[in-house]
Amino acid sequence: MKVKADWIEQAWQQVVHKMEETSAVIGATFPNGSKAGRYERSAPHDWIAGFWPGLLWLVYQETGNERLKALAVECERQISHTLWEFDQLHHDVGFMFELSSINQYKHLRDEEAKRHALMAASLLAGRFNAAGGFIRAWPNWGGEDHSGWAIIDCMLNLPLLYWASEEIDDPRYRHIAVIHADTVLREFVLADGSVHHIVCFDPETGKRIEAIAGQGYAADSAWARGAAWALYGFARSYGYTAKKEYVQAAERIASFFLNHLPVDKVPYWDFRLPEDEVHAPRDSSAAAIAASGLLALAALLPGESGEVYKEQAEAILLSLYENYSNWGVEEEGILMHATGYFAKDIYVDTPLIFGDYYFAEALLKLRHA
Ligand code: GLY
Repeated sequence: MKVKADWIEQAWQQVVHKMEETSAVIGATFPNGSKAGRYERSAPHDWIAGFWPGLLWLVYQETGNERLKALAVECERQISHTLWEFDQLHHDVGFMFELSSINQYKHLRDEEAKRHALMAASLLAGRFNAAGGFIRAWPNWGGEDHSGWAIIDCMLNLPLLYWASEEIDDPRYRHIAVIHADTVLREFVLADGSVHHIVCFDPETGKRIEAIAGQGYAADSAWARGAAWALYGFARSYGYTAKKEYVQAAERIASFFLNHLPVDKVPYWDFRLPEDEVHAPRDSSAAAIAASGLLALAALLPGESGEVYKEQAEAILLSLYENYSNWGVEEEGILMHATGYFAKDIYVDTPLIFGDYYFAEALLKLRHA
């Protein structure tokens, strides 16, 4: 039996310590990206809203800290109110409600929180376009017609649908998740394991029109965080459905991701940047998401192949811990050097709350492995 590395426990205890400190300032608000050491806050209907309560629940489950629990409960109350402003919502209710309401139901057996998550699942199912077999990502933000747009990130919204089907013992939500995942497999995932960020369909006929760059460098580049969402998302879809095509997709994407990492195992924000982009920033959040996804994959695969993914995840997390983490009070974020939206200069080379979340989630998986 392998002895667990000391750094895992050390890193986890530092997460706990930092959360105890930053939560006194952040309270029950919704941190997004860091500027000059402080997290900017977002509204509770922003796609990132679930990650802070998600972090609070991770630490609560290990420490029983009642103050953190109370903050998570207050965050859930605010997030659940957005259900009544559903025209401002989007497909990322999956992230939002899995990490807030489902966690609250899991930890406190809170039936009201369960109802909120089921309502969110119904909203997500309502975004399904039956002609194209995809879940529409966004409303028409900025006046742009998004009625035929689906995006790779949605792979991690599907667990809300799988969960809802299991809870109410009715396959409808799962059917929608499977049809969407099949569409993504066909239209987003390339033979080499790279993925598109956005694919645009004709919302009437459902026919594919084109792939577009989205947060990636170009339509035919390979946005690093998109690959991480896809890897983790297909692993989770496999966990819920046992469809072998999903585990094959997750492995193909994992192999692309791992084979394109630089020496320190933290990707540049896009895997296919022109060679003259020598000062491109990293995206540590993509590394953290991929590490947690690799651990999800490892837990689903018996024997040596699972062990190899676990070792790869461990190597990524060790590099994040040694080279990218910040435990000081001058910075509220934990993981430095994440990149939100490079082309629009939004949160470039700075901590992002979801980088912190997946880093902590993955550490905890290793701690219990
Ligand atoms: N889901 C949006 C992002 O990854 O930035």
